Amino acid sequence: MKPCFASIPIQASLSQSNSPVKSWLELHKQCRFTFTALQQIALSRLIPLLICGEQSSQWVFYNEKERFRQSPSASENDIVDLERIVSDEVYHEKALLYVLEQLPTPDDINTIRRRSQLFFAGLGKQLTIEQHYAQIACLDSWVCKLMLALEKSTLPCSHPFVSLCRCIKQDEAKHVSIAKKHSKQSALTKEQRLRLFDQLTQKLHKLLSTEKKAFLTIGVDIDTLFITRTN
Ligand SMILES: [Fe+2]
Ligand SMILES: [Fe+2]
Repeated sequence: MKPCFASIPIQASLSQSNSPVKSWLELHKQCRFTFTALQQIALSRLIPLLICGEQSSQWVFYNEKERFRQSPSASENDIVDLERIVSDEVYHEKALLYVLEQLPTPDDINTIRRRSQLFFAGLGKQLTIEQHYAQIACLDSWVCKLMLALEKSTLPCSHPFVSLCRCIKQDEAKHVSIAKKHSKQSALTKEQRLRLFDQLTQKLHKLLSTEKKAFLTIGVDIDTLFITRTN
């Protein structure tokens, strides 16, 4: 699949990552994954959405890390936190691409890619830095919920793709807490945070609903997932 967003100049700092996805890749580097024909079709439509999100996250956190580098008040710890997230996201992308390479390519892959590209490119527009981080915290918490739903899908719990979802979920939970820290939530009122959360939730629900059938094929009802709203 053609990338949704260009690669970031990161290779040198990949060692920053403690992501469990690194070990997952090592463990499965010779693995041919077993899926039913229907699961293959469904995942070949869903994984591109996830990959596009991973590529977008890399740019968000890479740009933020560069901004911090220029700022005299930024701590070294903050920069390391951001570098680690960028490298985690690179590993997520690599692992998802590795699975995707073993799946058929949908005829409308360009439409799927374009749709998610528009969604992610629209995030952060006209937002303050605090709002942007609050939105990232919200988005990554939805990724955690989605990964959990995929873990509980009709795929066997011992399936390597399920263990990949579990590994990504662990990283995203860490990203949520770092993004929350940077959003300096005190700068936003509860109402402002709720509004951001609701707006992003609606847009994400709309994007994922375009693949409702593929989600259902692997046992995930996207509408039920989005009924539960949390703060
Ligand atoms: Fe990620
Ligand atoms: Fe993330």
